[in-house]
Amino acid sequence: MSRFTGRRIVVTGAASGIGHAMTRMFLEEGGTVVAADLDPATVPDGALGRAVDVADPHRMAELITHAESAMGGIDILCNNAGVGSTTSVVDATVEEWDRVFAVNARGTFLGMKYALPGMLERGSGVIVNTASVAGMVGFRDRASYCASKGAVIALTKQAAIQYARAGIRVNCVCPGTVDSPWVERLVDGADDPAAYRAQLVARQPMGRLAESDEVARAVLFLASDDAAFVTGSGVVVDGGLVAG
Ligand SMILES: NC(=O)c1ccc[n+]([C@@H]2O[C@H](COP(=O)([O-])OP(=O)(O)OC[C@H]3O[C@@H](n4cnc5c(N)ncnc54)[C@H](O)[C@@H]3O)[C@@H](O)[C@H]2O)c1
Repeated sequence: MSRFTGRRIVVTGAASGIGHAMTRMFLEEGGTVVAADLDPATVPDGALGRAVDVADPHRMAELITHAESAMGGIDILCNNAGVGSTTSVVDATVEEWDRVFAVNARGTFLGMKYALPGMLERGSGVIVNTASVAGMVGFRDRASYCASKGAVIALTKQAAIQYARAGIRVNCVCPGTVDSPWVERLVDGADDPAAYRAQLVARQPMGRLAESDEVARAVLFLASDDAAFVTGSGVVVDGGLVAG
C-alpha cells in the first residue's frame, strides 16, 4: 500500500511548479487530490481541478466545502499558491504589498481557517504550507515577499502549538531557489537572462537550483505518517543557501 492510499488532499497552486509536482506525487502514491489554482487547466491528470483565487475568502470557503463533499473530508491541506515581488521597502507600492500578503499570508490563513474545523471534528489532519527561505533571511528587492513568507512561518508555528493535542500537525517547507516556471519568468524578464541565471546558480553552495520534485518530496514527507512526531517545523530545502 502506498503512503497516501485513502488520503483526501487539497493542494493550492497546483497547476505549475512545486504544487504541480506535489499533486502528481500524491496521486502516484494513492491519494485523491482536489487541485486548486487561478487557472486549473494544467493540474495533473487524475486530480480534481478547481478554479480559486486563494486570496478570496468566499472562494476559499467554497473550495474547502467542495473538497469536503467531493472527497468526504480533508486529511491533508497544502497551502502552496504564492506570488513574488521584486522591490525594496521604498519602491514597493501599497497595492503590491497588499496583493503579496493577500495571496501568500491571507491565502494560507484562509485555507487553514476553513479546513481546520473538519479536521478538529475528526481529531486528525495535516497541514503543509509552502513558505520560503525568504521568510528566514533577507534577500535584496524582495521586501513584500520576505515579509509575507515570514508570516507563513510564524502562522505555521502558532497553529502547530494551538492544535498539537488535537491530532493535527502543521509544518512548512522553506525552499531556496527552485527551477520552476516562476524562476523561468524571473530569468526571462531580466535585462541579461543568462547572466541572471548564472548569478542565481553561483549563490548556491551546491552549484545548481532545486527541482520542483525535490521540494515536493519534502512536502510529501511532512504530509505522511513518517513525520508523525514533526509539527511546527520548517524544513529547509535550499541546497545549503542559508546555511552559510
Ligand atoms: N520557485 C522558487 O524559487 C520558490 C522558492 C521558495 C518558495 N517558493 C514558493 O513555492 C510556491 C510555488 O511556487 P512555484 O515556484 O511553484 O511557482 P509557479 O508560479 O510555478 O506556481 C505557482 C502557482 O500558484 C498559482 N497561483 C498564484 N496565485 C494564486 C492565487 N491567488 N490563487 C490560486 N493560485 C494561485 C499560479 O497560477 C501557479 O500555478 C509559492 O508559494 C512560492 O512562494 C518558490
